[in-house]
Amino acid sequence: MALDLSTTYLGLKLSSPLMPGASPLVDNLDHVKALQDAGASAIVLRSLFEEQIDREMKAEYAHLKRHEDVFAEAAGFFPESDEYALGPQEYLEHIRKVKEACQLPVIASLNGTQIGGWVEYANLIQQAGADALELNLYYLATDAAVSGEEVESDVVEIVRTVKAGVKIPVAVKLSPFFSALGHLAKEVEGIGADGLVLFNRFYQPDIDLDALEVLPKLDLSTPEELRLRLRWLAILFGQVKLPLACSGGVHSSGDVAKAILAGANTVQVVSALLKHGPAHLRTLRIGLEQWMQEKEYESVSQMRGALSLQNCPDPSAFERANYLKVLQLWKS
Ligand SMILES: Cc1cc2nc3c(=O)[nH]c(=O)nc-3n(C[C@H](O)[C@H](O)[C@H](O)COP(=O)(O)O)c2cc1C
Repeated sequence: MALDLSTTYLGLKLSSPLMPGASPLVDNLDHVKALQDAGASAIVLRSLFEEQIDREMKAEYAHLKRHEDVFAEAAGFFPESDEYALGPQEYLEHIRKVKEACQLPVIASLNGTQIGGWVEYANLIQQAGADALELNLYYLATDAAVSGEEVESDVVEIVRTVKAGVKIPVAVKLSPFFSALGHLAKEVEGIGADGLVLFNRFYQPDIDLDALEVLPKLDLSTPEELRLRLRWLAILFGQVKLPLACSGGVHSSGDVAKAILAGANTVQVVSALLKHGPAHLRTLRIGLEQWMQEKEYESVSQMRGALSLQNCPDPSAFERANYLKVLQLWKS
């Protein structure tokens, strides 16, 4: 039986749901080619950060001494400009190089939290040839004076501003930490976003007990992290028409199948590719095909959302009832 793995995402017709997620993996053009050979359906680039762009813009206006001082103080907490792998101009150049190196759609990524000059980079990214843009709005509301409503309205305003500046499709990469994620997803859809990426992964700091310092820490993900994504993919499928990308905790072909059954159009993989190399994407694809054959699925679109909240034989499995049931299941 010929299997149809094709899917649509951000208005792009893709050969399969599998692609690398935003990461340094595709800084290297050999990796881009290897990912294409392994069956990637698109390439997602690492992010260009608001802080990097601000730094460059402020350097251009260095004569504004007052701003420079304020910025210098704040900038001490952020990486130095030469610690970023790609500066803003290099990033645009990298988009062109990746486009030349492969025949796949290229999804660039902008990462920021407040409307500012950086959003103009969306247009430069479009001009550099990106086929779509992923907007990562990684924000931690540490100021107790800022309400959830304000945080959500900032998200919506950034998306609106970016959308107004570009013609290419824009996906929004969200964090799971909103009190009413479904409502926010609807709002983002209402102002014209073209897709959602679930989810951003927060890197929790650790404490060094000897040095008495707070340390930034990056661990690769584990498959357990997929479950939070499965729940929200399943809840949002059917409630929003936006295509959904799963990002987080996909390590095996079984994980890929689960994400699609929950409602994902595409599945982004980072930690597993950093660990096993670009060829792992082929292993995931082959495993998915075997599973589909065993279960007699003919296409990804037939699978998609089959176990979502609206289609699941027991919707309570995704809701509060699941919480009650799970707690009762514990046996010491
Ligand atoms: C080393 C590394 C760098 C990353 N850089 C970015 C980035 O620049 N922009 C972004 O949106 N996500 C970035 N991510 C997050 C991934 O895109 C992804 O959302 C996260 O790792 C969860 O997927 P995984 O479980 O497949 O790793 C990065 C992840 C890792 C491990």
